[in-house]
Amino acid sequence: MASLNVNGKSREFQAEADTPLLWVIREQIGLTGTKYGCGVAQCGACTVHIDGVPTRSCVRPLSSVGPAQKIVTIEGLSADGSHPVQKAWAALDVPQCGFCQSGMIMAAVALLKAKPKPTDADIDEAMSNICRCGTYNRVRAAIKLVASGGPAPQV
Ligand code: FES
Ligand code: FES
Repeated sequence: MASLNVNGKSREFQAEADTPLLWVIREQIGLTGTKYGCGVAQCGACTVHIDGVPTRSCVRPLSSVGPAQKIVTIEGLSADGSHPVQKAWAALDVPQCGFCQSGMIMAAVALLKAKPKPTDADIDEAMSNICRCGTYNRVRAAIKLVASGGPAPQV
C-alpha cells in the first residue's frame, strides 16, 4: 500500500514504485482533470504542484514522491472554479478544446505566486506548455488580468 497527500487529503492505494505519478493521480486516485499529452515532459498537460513547484507528473515515478509532500491538482485549486486564475480564464474564454488547460492553469498559478506581476519574459519562461489550439495569446492576457487585479465581478 502506498500513500500520497493530494489536495490536502491523505490517499492510500496500490501501485508499483515505477508507476508515473500522473497515472496514480488519474487511475488510482480518480482525479482526471490532469491530462496525458506526450508522456515525455514536453507538453505540460500533466502539470501538478509538488510542494508548490509546477511538475510534469508523467515523468515522476511514484517512488520519487513522499507521503509528506503536498501534491495539488487542478481539482485542488478551488471547489467551485473560484480561484482567481480560474476566474480570469473564464472571463477571457481562454480554453478552446480544453485539453491542455488544466496544465496551463497550474503553471500560471505557480508563476503568479512566485511573481505576482510577471513580465512578458517571465511568462515566456514559465509557460512552456503546448496548446494545439493556439490559445497562447489568451493565456497571456489572462495571466495579465490576474496580475492587474482580476476580472470585475459580474452584475
Ligand atoms: S503528458 Fe506530461 S508533459 Fe506531456
Ligand atoms: S485548448 Fe486545445 S490544446 Fe489547448
